[in-house]
Amino acid sequence: MMRYAHVTGWGMAVPENVLTNHDLEQIVDTNDEWIISRTGIKERRIAAKDETTSSLALDAARRALSQTDLNPGDIQLIIVATASPDFIFPATACLVQDQLGAVNAGAFDLSAACTGFVYALNMAAQSIRSGSLDNALVIGAETLSRFVNWEDRNTCVLFGDGAGAFVLQASEKPGGLLSCVMRSDGSGGDLLSVPAGGSVLPATHETVDQNLHTIQMNGREVFRFATRVMASATKEAVDKAGLKLEDINLIIPHQANSRIIEAAARGIRMPMTQIVMNIERYGNTSTASIPIAICEALEDNRIKPGDNLVLVAFGGGLTWGALVLEWTEPEIRPISIWSRRRRKLLLLLARLRSFGLRLLRKLEGFIWGASSQEE
Ligand code: ACO
Repeated sequence: MMRYAHVTGWGMAVPENVLTNHDLEQIVDTNDEWIISRTGIKERRIAAKDETTSSLALDAARRALSQTDLNPGDIQLIIVATASPDFIFPATACLVQDQLGAVNAGAFDLSAACTGFVYALNMAAQSIRSGSLDNALVIGAETLSRFVNWEDRNTCVLFGDGAGAFVLQASEKPGGLLSCVMRSDGSGGDLLSVPAGGSVLPATHETVDQNLHTIQMNGREVFRFATRVMASATKEAVDKAGLKLEDINLIIPHQANSRIIEAAARGIRMPMTQIVMNIERYGNTSTASIPIAICEALEDNRIKPGDNLVLVAFGGGLTWGALVLEWTEPEIRPISIWSRRRRKLLLLLARLRSFGLRLLRKLEGFIWGASSQEE
């Protein structure tokens, strides 16, 4: 019996705070015309003080889950693909697991920069197809605004914050993830990196003074690499799925730069009407850009059941990859008020549970400490 992994739920979350190109003109020596003509970006969302990668991830996950018949306790795996985690550890996925009340889920973060969502979706789908899992929650979430040097006009105009989530579920019905290619080239790691904060350059006054905890990028080299791999990865994934480019209805590329997307489209001779692009409103949200773009395409009725989609991305590492997904779900499912209320209640219970567990751990520590002192 063949098993397939279908996307059964989806959701996105972006901060309310909008930073326009005109706002950026007040911060660095740049202008709206330069940013639009070189990148296609008009504005991006920036997380408020109380918003974090995990809070955006949680918001997107809640929405994705509410499209399905699953309760948080049914979720078996949570992967958060991110380049801007809440902490080095614990994993952002564990914070989401706790806040969601996903008591039976394994949880880990996946680090493949902007390609992370494609990698994560493939890993989760293969676990489902192999029979080791029945479902998984895959999230791409970022607060890159916290890792940007706001004095560097080469990078600070590019990035934005947000999150997108998919629920994957097993089924015998053919469709869902059809193929994937995952690639990397570590020799180009220095082209796009956050140099300090790891074991090579632990945090010191100097690393902070030299801005080494922020994104450093060789834009021209990354651009050349990206235009090369986007088209080739798309062709490879389509080929691996046993399909032809003519069979593809829509391509959802990582939103890094409109010129990169246009060059990739030319490389595979695909009209821009078949490419999803929303970079003008969000900038580069790294791992979140593809799920956010898909959520918006669904809202706009651009994706129908039976459509073949290509998700294609590149990023730091260097990494790149593409996957083919046969969309099998109806466009948007109405969510009943009852179901919304029930989910709110489940979330409240998750918070209470988390609080209770922390309290219990403290009490246990207190009692344990007292009894071990007695010995
Ligand atoms: N405003 C005005 N001028 C600027 C700005 C700005 N924001 N940024 C750079 N410039 C200047 C440069 O200083 C340079 O001036 P100079 O010629 O006097 O030195 C000039 O504009 C041209 O600079 P280039 O780097 O050649 O500009 P380019 O056309 O290559 O565009 C860009 C730069 C937009 C960064 C482009 O190279 C790019 O998009 N690269 C890919 C980046 C990318 O996708 N990164 C994300 C990867 S995903 C991830 O893993 C996080």
